[in-house]
Amino acid sequence: MRRRAIIMVILMVLQFGAIHSKPTTYMVGDEDGWDSGLDMEGWTKGKTFHAGDFLVFTYDGQQFDVAVVNQTGHDSCSLNEGAKVFHSGNDKIQLAFGANYFIDTVADLCAAGMKMAINATAPPPSV
Ligand SMILES: *[C@@H]1O[C@H](CO)[C@@H](O)[C@H](O)[C@H]1NC(C)=O
Ligand SMILES: *[C@@H]1O[C@H](CO)[C@@H](O)[C@H](O)[C@H]1NC(C)=O
Repeated sequence: MRRRAIIMVILMVLQFGAIHSKPTTYMVGDEDGWDSGLDMEGWTKGKTFHAGDFLVFTYDGQQFDVAVVNQTGHDSCSLNEGAKVFHSGNDKIQLAFGANYFIDTVADLCAAGMKMAINATAPPPSV
């Protein structure tokens, strides 16, 4: 039936569009923050991130920074064209759907482990 199909479409739009549970805010690195002494990729293990969630990067803005890069930037520890660099020491960054990449651009900190790749899945429905 045609009407049934239309209702199905409306339900799908509601589920994927409007009604999402509240975004989660994560403190990157927990109490250690965005830290040069830790393997930051390790912090992401076992966590499920959703598009729209927030990451709060806390660090010493005199010494460190955080850049949103693409996969090339993450893998090669370099700033790609269009990358965004933050250095306030308390940066709240919202996750986009799909792959999100973060690095520290100072010296060799990225190569030493100050980088993260996060795959954000679709937000869960609130019901
Ligand atoms: C990252 O950005 C650079 C510069 O725009 C581009 O050359 C490169 O192909 C991009 N990498 C990916 C994986 O999209
Ligand atoms: C992200 O996660 C989704 C769902 O688990 C998966 O289908 C997709 O391949 C992942 N993408 C990347 C870039 O890891």
